[in-house]
Amino acid sequence: MTPWSDWETNFETARAALAWQVEMGVDEAICDTPQNRYALPDKVAKPTKPATAPAAAAPASEATDPVAEARSMAAAAQDLAELREALAAYPHCELRLGARNLVFCDGQEGARVMIVGEAPGREEDLQGKPFVGEAGQLLDRMFGAIAMGRAHPDPARALYITNILPWRPPQNRDPSAEERAMMRPFVLRHVELANPDIVVLMGRISASTLLETSEGITRIRGQWREFMGRPALPMLHPAYLLRTPAAKREAWADLLDLQAKLRTLP
Ligand code: URA
Repeated sequence: MTPWSDWETNFETARAALAWQVEMGVDEAICDTPQNRYALPDKVAKPTKPATAPAAAAPASEATDPVAEARSMAAAAQDLAELREALAAYPHCELRLGARNLVFCDGQEGARVMIVGEAPGREEDLQGKPFVGEAGQLLDRMFGAIAMGRAHPDPARALYITNILPWRPPQNRDPSAEERAMMRPFVLRHVELANPDIVVLMGRISASTLLETSEGITRIRGQWREFMGRPALPMLHPAYLLRTPAAKREAWADLLDLQAKLRTLP
């Protein structure tokens, strides 16, 4: 007979495995028993050739180049709603398969300040909104300290928030170079359509992806750069500040600088 402690261990192991799968986005059991699909290549039906070519097939170079396709889909979006639809329809980024929600934006359209973060975490993936977890709460407190916020009705004090990636990477790993390259055209179009006076590049991934620089965030934070014809301020990410509270001094200096810059712009 199996000792009770073994039952308990098996139960806890199975429960932990289930919790992990739910966390990874598994929401459906396909089979009763696992199958090694790598062992079934012969059974996969080969795609049949369509009788006629699709009416509006993309040029071959675009069809095979995910970044070119991202560029053309982003460019075709005429407003923020269309850009969101374009992202939802973009087929080449596999992160979408593991995510619960597409996280597009939060805050006020027309805000003078647009924040671009890195990627959704667990809470953001669940709620479909950027910066709503612990780092997001710190971000709200930081901007609250200079009387700005995502819910502020006055565009001069409002924030508009997005991320480089709209889907959560598994276990919050760093986005790969390929994922960043695919999403960059969408973020550029996002900035164009949102048309803020100032862009805040929140953290290492945002600053390096958008400025195409390998300079470290601790080196370039607080230095005004030009990005898409407007001032951009690289800042330390609130998740970093949670781990490194001593760096809040620098973040505070950057917030005051941002506030001063807003006063100087028309
Ligand atoms: N960190 C980010 O960069 N973005 C989010 O939306 C949440 C955490």
